[in-house]
Amino acid sequence: MKAMVYTQYGPPDVLRLEEIAMPTPGNDEVLVRVYAASANASDWHLLRGVPFPVRFVYGLFRPKYPVLGADMAGRVEAVGASVTRFRPGDAVFGDLSAYGFGGYAEYVCVKAEALVRKPDHLSFAEAAAVPSAALTALQGLRDKGKLQPGQNVLIHGASGGVGSFAVQFAKAFGAEVTAVCSTRKMAVVRSLGADHVIDYNREDFARTGRKYNLIFAANGNRSIFDYRRVLLPNGIYVMGGGAGRQMVQAMTPGPLLTLLDSREHVNLLMKPNPADLAFIGGLLESRKIVPIIDRCFPLDAVPEAIRYLEAGQAAGKVVITTGATV
Ligand SMILES: NC(=O)c1ccc[n+]([C@@H]2O[C@H](COP(=O)([O-])OP(=O)(O)OC[C@H]3O[C@@H](n4cnc5c(N)ncnc54)[C@H](OP(=O)(O)O)[C@@H]3O)[C@@H](O)[C@H]2O)c1
Repeated sequence: MKAMVYTQYGPPDVLRLEEIAMPTPGNDEVLVRVYAASANASDWHLLRGVPFPVRFVYGLFRPKYPVLGADMAGRVEAVGASVTRFRPGDAVFGDLSAYGFGGYAEYVCVKAEALVRKPDHLSFAEAAAVPSAALTALQGLRDKGKLQPGQNVLIHGASGGVGSFAVQFAKAFGAEVTAVCSTRKMAVVRSLGADHVIDYNREDFARTGRKYNLIFAANGNRSIFDYRRVLLPNGIYVMGGGAGRQMVQAMTPGPLLTLLDSREHVNLLMKPNPADLAFIGGLLESRKIVPIIDRCFPLDAVPEAIRYLEAGQAAGKVVITTGATV
């Protein structure tokens, strides 16, 4: 089978489309024919091995997992002896990041527990756009942010994969949503249902005078003190993603600032789990949320797809299709 493989850290050029052995499912595993996968910011971190501490988990000198691709949708081809939840032919999707990745390939073997059934109305490409970004947005708002109906929520980085789901979850949970994004992505973000959209090229959310119960930095580039300035008493700032400075600030002044008053700073580390994915499946079924796809790339163009994502061009998700058809 064909797979996009990398054996050394580096830019997207280190990826090669290669013929590798077809995996065989173990006892509790499922062999899935991959129809689509989606790219995530984590791809370029894992590809380049940056920031350096990721290497302690994903391989110190060379990548531990040679085939990337966390998000995947496809059809079950074969199941291991103890798998009862799925049968060959079932359409499934899931986040493979806790199971060794492998979505950028024609087939992948994964533990059955990583997968849930694909909602019928979604294409494989749409389903592949969901898992990691939607799980991050859900866990950031609901679990870390303790979002309640009627609250004022600010979503920074609202136009990306995580942000586009975050805006929709926050609306589905009954919040009043202010979304921050760049000029050319405003129309997409408005279409997600945001009540207010701030173009960060024209307006500074930290100086509008408006304050929030919850700030979710899906991709934040501002100082923790800017977020804190617009946080209401008892408000929560959730650091989902951002550059190095955001991560450092979340680790050092963040916990100390939380001790000063009722405003809280919390860091998010998304944990893939099928219960949350099934919950998301329900919201997809009821059309409360829809995956937004910016562009699809074929399997042999994964390097271009990752470059495109890394350049911050996408509004919504970037999807990889393998050429498998229904
Ligand atoms: N905590 C976790 O467990 C977890 C899990 C998954 C992902 N993440 C992180 O979450 C972040 C977002 O992931 P994603 O999949 O949504 O990425 P993405 O699809 O690449 O989207 C990022 C968006 O952020 C915006 N952006 C780019 N540079 C920005 C800046 N300097 N300030 C504010 N916004 C900026 C861009 O939109 P505009 O053009 O509108 O600015 C872009 O569409 C990444 O940092 C990722 O590593 C964290």
